Amino acid sequence: MGRVEQKVALVTGGASGIGLASAQLLAKEGAKVVIGDFNIEGAKAAAEEIKANGGEASAIFLDATKEDSIQEAVEFTVNTYGSINILFNNVGGTNLKKDLDVVNLDLDEWDRLMNMNLKSVLIGSRFAIPYMQKAGGGSIINTASTAAVAGDAIRSAYGASKTAVTGLTRYIATQYGKDNIRCNAIAPGLILTPAAKANLPEEVREIFMKYNALPYHGEPEDIGNTVVFLASDDSKFMTGQLLVVDGGHYMTSPTISDVDNYVASLQK
Ligand SMILES: NC(=O)c1ccc[n+]([C@@H]2O[C@H](COP(=O)([O-])OP(=O)(O)OC[C@H]3O[C@@H](n4cnc5c(N)ncnc54)[C@H](O)[C@@H]3O)[C@@H](O)[C@H]2O)c1
Repeated sequence: MGRVEQKVALVTGGASGIGLASAQLLAKEGAKVVIGDFNIEGAKAAAEEIKANGGEASAIFLDATKEDSIQEAVEFTVNTYGSINILFNNVGGTNLKKDLDVVNLDLDEWDRLMNMNLKSVLIGSRFAIPYMQKAGGGSIINTASTAAVAGDAIRSAYGASKTAVTGLTRYIATQYGKDNIRCNAIAPGLILTPAAKANLPEEVREIFMKYNALPYHGEPEDIGNTVVFLASDDSKFMTGQLLVVDGGHYMTSPTISDVDNYVASLQK
């Protein structure tokens, strides 16, 4: 018996990276999974692979920046599998050339990211919640980021939108808790998705590793396993929470090593 046996899940941005690993792990644990992505070929390939491995999955074109496209994906999920019990609002991202410091960031990019990273969570949730209410409950899981728990020199729009996702998570949890609908968010640290592997120079990866408490990088499955936990009854008393999954990157004060060095210098 899987941990989400016979549950129905919609995963946005499920054709690659964190979404793909989550879709695969949800299916492995018994869920029927709809993969929504604007890379429809990738979504179809992911669904086929899940089916080839004995799971149940379907694909649908989804543009998470468009309200009617999100509505269509939610309704496709319900029409295909009879309900929606798990919604993983995972689409998100930034453009490092435009999402700069507050003085210099491109305001059109600000609007684009608020729409893609934040409004998509609102829209997906508002279309799924009435079906979850009818089904007697559900679990909504949102992808935030460690950009929601610390400031940064650039990525102001990304950080603000992901911080707002954690706030919206608490509002959804508060408003629909009595309907047995839980809502939690995950803040991944650096996760070596194919895109991150292709775009991040080795030097930058090493900087991240230096500040991780653990001696390895995050893999998409590390977030996927957290998604399964939040989707399943294993987390049935948790709602409105932000789970930071980052190898311990952000939990140590950055001043500690400087203070240690200073104290050591006094002892010389
Ligand atoms: N990878 C990391 O290190 C990391 C860290 C923190 C947070 N995150 C967050 O995790 C989530 C997933 O990131 P990832 O690294 O797996 O990304 P990714 O680029 O590997 O995959 C994103 C998927 O979403 C799809 N997609 C992008 N825009 C879309 C849209 N508008 N509509 C529908 N589909 C769309 C892409 O086709 C792709 O399949 C994002 O919200 C991201 O902000 C990632």
